[in-house]
Amino acid sequence: MNVPTTSTVTLPDLVTAQSRPLPVDFVIGAATAAYQIEGARHEDGRLDSIWDTFSHTPGAVVDGDTGDVACEHYHRFGEDVALMRRLGLQSYRFSTSWSRVVPDGRTVNAAGLDFYERLVDELLGAGIAPWLTLYHWDLPQALEDRGGWTARDTTDRFVEYAGAVHDRLGDRVRTWTTLNEPWCAAFLGYTAGMHAPGRTSVADGLAAAHHLLLGHGRAVQELRSRDASLELGLTLNFTVADPLDPADPRDVDAARRVDAQMNRIFLDPVFRGAYPADLLEDVRGLGLTDHVVDGDLEVISTPIDVLGVNYYNGEAVAHWRPEVTLDDNVNGGRTTRSPFPAADSSFRHPRGLPVTAMDWEIQPEGLTRLLHRLHDEYTGPAGVPLHVTENGAAFDDAPDADGFVDDTDRVAYVRAHLGAVLDAAEAGVPVRGYFYWSLLDNFEWAWGYAKRFGIVRVDYDTQVRTPKASALDLARIIATRVLPTGRASTAAGSPDSTEAAGTDDRAGERDA
Ligand code: FCB
Repeated sequence: MNVPTTSTVTLPDLVTAQSRPLPVDFVIGAATAAYQIEGARHEDGRLDSIWDTFSHTPGAVVDGDTGDVACEHYHRFGEDVALMRRLGLQSYRFSTSWSRVVPDGRTVNAAGLDFYERLVDELLGAGIAPWLTLYHWDLPQALEDRGGWTARDTTDRFVEYAGAVHDRLGDRVRTWTTLNEPWCAAFLGYTAGMHAPGRTSVADGLAAAHHLLLGHGRAVQELRSRDASLELGLTLNFTVADPLDPADPRDVDAARRVDAQMNRIFLDPVFRGAYPADLLEDVRGLGLTDHVVDGDLEVISTPIDVLGVNYYNGEAVAHWRPEVTLDDNVNGGRTTRSPFPAADSSFRHPRGLPVTAMDWEIQPEGLTRLLHRLHDEYTGPAGVPLHVTENGAAFDDAPDADGFVDDTDRVAYVRAHLGAVLDAAEAGVPVRGYFYWSLLDNFEWAWGYAKRFGIVRVDYDTQVRTPKASALDLARIIATRVLPTGRASTAAGSPDSTEAAGTDDRAGERDA
């Protein structure tokens, strides 16, 4: 990617004995997704996506929150890009809304594309490299009404949509990822009922997973045929599943199932052109193979140029249910079930690690292991570099009277995970960059506005944006090209602070 290496933020040089230089070409940015920030639900021809329908369903989202207004990014994108520029972000990962570009699933809406053209031009003008994701979960409702991702035809519509976005932006955007986290789209959406469209069917989740993969492969072929120089790929979300008791074969099998049904169900088709044998055994008779047509896996394994890695945490897995559970599922009274099609005897156990406000354990070393594993087993043999396309944390932010959040916990989280990425990079894993999730506090899916991941605070009453200490800290890291590795100070966000959170201290100062 073409990215700037200097920042407009003037900051002191922090090269100290305790700090770690970033690799020369390492790119740091932040990520968002259309439905989570844009608002403007029915403006300029946009029609509903499955998330509009779902969020307006009683009990589906905490407090009945919706993305109708969100961060008003549709109208405030200029201000948001200016803020990114001030922070020195080198790249911005965003998604285009299918429901804005092809609202009824078939007819291209030029006004929807106008918005993304304005956004991309603004980014390029600010020296920020756009990283475009075509699908971050907002399927047009019109297509869901015709079967959604359980219908093979949806892959035709996805290719048409990819082409429409490329027609407009192909001359300006170099990096295109087809899907964000197909595991969530398929299994949280069609099997667990926790995300849109809220179905609770094992068979539907498996059908959706296969069609998402097929849509990915077909879109890569389409874009590649238009321009061989594009950088193409997809983003997957991963867990690092460790058996609670490595000596107990039942725990080993429980962890294997989680790994197969979350990680390898996508990795193996993309990089090896086949579903894993053990997965096929686990889901035998549940419907997956009913949808696999000759030639599909060749399409799905069309070579890609980059793998996006989303990592939040790993897990310890056992064959028995713990007394105390990590509780990160929303349940507003709706019927939900496990997202895993065939892992009813796999249970996640708390390990006593500090947790974020999502009850997600903070485990930076899992990211280092994950990057090594991906490189050794999948991307390395294919010659594909890695990018961390999401990593971040929700905490219970406490703004001061000016709206400033001194989020020492998030500062420590980011530094620890960036350190974990550098550990892998310095050991030879080609990991080229890191996007923090998220630039802004935003609509966190079934959690609505109750969870804040941003490095920039959004006051939802006034839409005022206030960079948190973590934004200032990230700006400083980008400007100095150095990751501090000392201990976090209470004023960690002060641009003048030379103290830092320890990677050995992992969770930093959190009092969990
Ligand atoms: C990921 C999603 C992203 C955001 C983060 C917290 O699974 O891709 O939209 O919700 O989790």
